[in-house]
Amino acid sequence: MNIKALVFDAYGTLLDVHSVVALCEKLFPGKGTALSQLWRARQLEYTWLRSLMGRYEDFSQVTADALRYACGTLDLKLESSHVLQLMDAYDRLTPFPDALEAMPQLTQYRRVILSNGSQAMLNAAVKHAGFTAHLDAILSVDLIKIYKPDPRVYQLAVSHLSIVKAEIGFVSSNYWDAAGAKSFGFKVFWINRSGALPDALGAVPDAVLGRLTELPALITSPN
Ligand code: LAC
Repeated sequence: MNIKALVFDAYGTLLDVHSVVALCEKLFPGKGTALSQLWRARQLEYTWLRSLMGRYEDFSQVTADALRYACGTLDLKLESSHVLQLMDAYDRLTPFPDALEAMPQLTQYRRVILSNGSQAMLNAAVKHAGFTAHLDAILSVDLIKIYKPDPRVYQLAVSHLSIVKAEIGFVSSNYWDAAGAKSFGFKVFWINRSGALPDALGAVPDAVLGRLTELPALITSPN
């Protein structure tokens, strides 16, 4: 496949954003799953809308704003101590086991994260999850203050790696991100752990994998 480096999405790909469910459920019994789902959905929508409006705020602000909106919609009384606890949980998200297992098998590639997360959030979560030793760099959109899937974000990774796009493998579980990366020109691997339906966005990943552990054999095979 002639891949020289790998670029990973963070939230939803290496880190399980829905591992906050347990704390959501503890704080708001019976509403944990609904809160986690709506929180994530609004978090993403706010990144796209803010990018379109040209009104960037970092991912930590957007995440907290989305949390407030989600709680308001679900009629949950959000105390400031809840916000602190839930935002703190975002710095301690559970890694996906297949991601942890795959990383040591990919040591011949330069590996970086390219994420909408703020640098501080990413540094904390990556360290807590145990990925630090497996990464050469953690690139945050905060450097250019616009969110994925804007092509300028994917260009950040190209500039950092100094490798042509076609020789960079981009790995994401978020289909919209995989589509954005493919449209930009990366070789794209969509990790579809949940058997999700691909979105109709006009850009199709090069390969669909059920687990990240399938990636090492796929990219090192001669065909
Ligand atoms: C990331 C989120 C948005 O960029 O998945 O890490």
